[in-house]
Amino acid sequence: MAQDYTPVPASKDNMGKPVARYEALQKVTGAKIYAEDLPVPGRPAYAWMVTSGIAKGRITAIDDTEARAIPGVQLIVTHENVGQLGKLETFANGGLAITEVGPLAGPEVHHDGQPVALIVADTFEAAREASYKLAISYAEESPTATFGDAGATEKALGDINPEYEPIRFNDAEAALANSAHTIDAEYRTPIQHHNPIELFSTTAYWEGGRLVLHEPSQYVWGLKHSAADLMQVDADNVRVKSPFVGGAFGSKGAVTHRTALAALAAKRLGRPVKLVAMRDQGFTHSGHRQETRQSVRLGCDANGRLTGYDHRSWEFTARTTPYYNGGLDKCAAMYAFDAVRTDEYVVQGDRNVPTFMRSPAEVPTIYALEAAMNELAAEAGIDPVEFRKINDTRVNPVNGAPYTSRSLNQCLDAVADSFGWTGRDPRPGSMREGDWLIGWGCSMAMYPTQMGPSTARLIVRRNGSALIEVAAHDVGTGCYTIAAQAAGERLGIDPQRIEVRMGDSRLPPGPISGGSISTASVTSAVANACDRIVEELGLSSDASTDERAAAMAGMSEPEIEVLGRWTPPGMGEDALQAMYDGGVRITGGNMDERTMFAFGAEMVEVRVNERTREIRVPRIHGAFAAGHIMNPRTAHSQYLGGLIWGIGSALHEATEIDHKRARYTNDNIAEYLIPVNADIGEVNIVMVPERDDEINVLGVKGIGELANVGTPAAITDAIWHATGTRIRDLPVRLEKLL
Ligand code: MOS
Repeated sequence: MAQDYTPVPASKDNMGKPVARYEALQKVTGAKIYAEDLPVPGRPAYAWMVTSGIAKGRITAIDDTEARAIPGVQLIVTHENVGQLGKLETFANGGLAITEVGPLAGPEVHHDGQPVALIVADTFEAAREASYKLAISYAEESPTATFGDAGATEKALGDINPEYEPIRFNDAEAALANSAHTIDAEYRTPIQHHNPIELFSTTAYWEGGRLVLHEPSQYVWGLKHSAADLMQVDADNVRVKSPFVGGAFGSKGAVTHRTALAALAAKRLGRPVKLVAMRDQGFTHSGHRQETRQSVRLGCDANGRLTGYDHRSWEFTARTTPYYNGGLDKCAAMYAFDAVRTDEYVVQGDRNVPTFMRSPAEVPTIYALEAAMNELAAEAGIDPVEFRKINDTRVNPVNGAPYTSRSLNQCLDAVADSFGWTGRDPRPGSMREGDWLIGWGCSMAMYPTQMGPSTARLIVRRNGSALIEVAAHDVGTGCYTIAAQAAGERLGIDPQRIEVRMGDSRLPPGPISGGSISTASVTSAVANACDRIVEELGLSSDASTDERAAAMAGMSEPEIEVLGRWTPPGMGEDALQAMYDGGVRITGGNMDERTMFAFGAEMVEVRVNERTREIRVPRIHGAFAAGHIMNPRTAHSQYLGGLIWGIGSALHEATEIDHKRARYTNDNIAEYLIPVNADIGEVNIVMVPERDDEINVLGVKGIGELANVGTPAAITDAIWHATGTRIRDLPVRLEKLL
């Protein structure tokens, strides 16, 4: 279907200008802006990671005779000669390591694809060829692949995290028993892999005792400290460069084995070493979204008011490192429930460790809640939009903490308007065109507003130009652009005259680019820097932007430099120091005093072929409200990507696993399905103005992870509306409808 595509969305109330991305020209002309493009001193050697051929057991022998005989091979590192590397903590313990098992730590094999050797050669081809000749013998045991397989072990989250408390208030069981309508359903979500176009790469070289890393990263400052700990050097002697990131979605936040392996090889050889995890290796190298099962019971009274909510969730994780997302605390905050009971579990097997992936907790848990909301609305005979409005809340029902702002109802109205929801006949199977059964579905989208501490160096010059430096990251979101806009708006400088430097650990520290925190955190630090400039110029804080610009033009020195600093409300000053030390500090969402979320609402039309059961999505609309929108153009891109990803989650994406060998079978982007152009029809985005003066300096809510939350619930409900069949196991491929 044709659509009226608007490349430059108009600014509405409380929205900045739709400035084009700073790097737009570089990106469309293929300029060398990514870590792997950066020049290195001297001729690099090329490394190949050899990964385990089994998922569980131990290495009994390694014979490298033939591998060493390949011309050009310079170095083979295994657990037998790796020496002593430093140890990193995982996320659960405040560190950045993806797994508790160190690089080449020993002969034990914990999962398929575990790095077991590194081969470095003068050419990539020689390293790869040698990898085929490296003879590794294993004593193999039978691995546990996923839910339901022998050897899977279940633990409550409280058993692995003593601080964890499940959300429970009032008597959910009694509330459910007294409900006029109830549903009881189990939902399943699959393994997903991030698969950024830019592969996981590390280039390492040493300049004397100093290590330089070119590595795409969502947290260069943290990677600097982690690399220093691994290589047992001072953090001041490590520099990480990652000027742009070619897709991450969470997969470039943790520190993987390859950083240490590349750094170690570069040290031993005394030359730069380039190491890239191949596409298939990427499936076991940098984590994934783990598969889940969600059991939901939900009830309402005869008027559609929610009563009891009982949600239990199981996430599949690694035996070595029980990474989990949780998330039911956020589900429990969404509507005016009378009584809630949650239970969260991990189930462990012989798998690589999962990691955060775009709305990590929210995508599976909100899918289950929103699917249940749609099912219960149908059961009660209430329109699903109306049903959500009936159950709107101004506070988190768990602790009574008020939302700083919540525009779910406005988003529902805006998307209903744009989509034409009033034309929906609620009876399943009631709409059709020829062989195509038509269904309409809806869902809420949400994401907690999260923030971390940040600094930002700002230099303003008499000639009217400025420079911002912060070790934040542009993972494709437009962070360079909005940092310039934040300073430009506050100082009265044309953002085109503001240069921005990011993605280099030599710059003043910025936060991890995870949890959609960058815009709120970085613009708040930039605003603080601007306020310091205003003070240095001897102006009062309410001076107009014209007065500010005039004062800068009349400065006695050619330039002034300040360091802006910002710590989110409620976070101690020690959080800033923790960031200087490479730690991760994030706050937001459900707080004791207040509740901070961005909301959206999505509507979708599906068409299911009556004969073949082929499923199409001719149109999807989303309305979103997220406080001050820095840049409607880059925001529009985030929402667009989110809705498309949501379609992929509902209908395409899943990593398949071989139950016997605990090995991913579609570990390539030919067989790992994602939506392509032919799968995407009309996508319409409505930005709903919202003002939130409490949340942070500029009133910004993060939006990167908002639009892909809830979409699968809208699509599965639309499929039910078209066909009368409820599918509760994602993704919905046509065989499930046969
Ligand atoms: Mo995002 S999953 O917090 O990188």
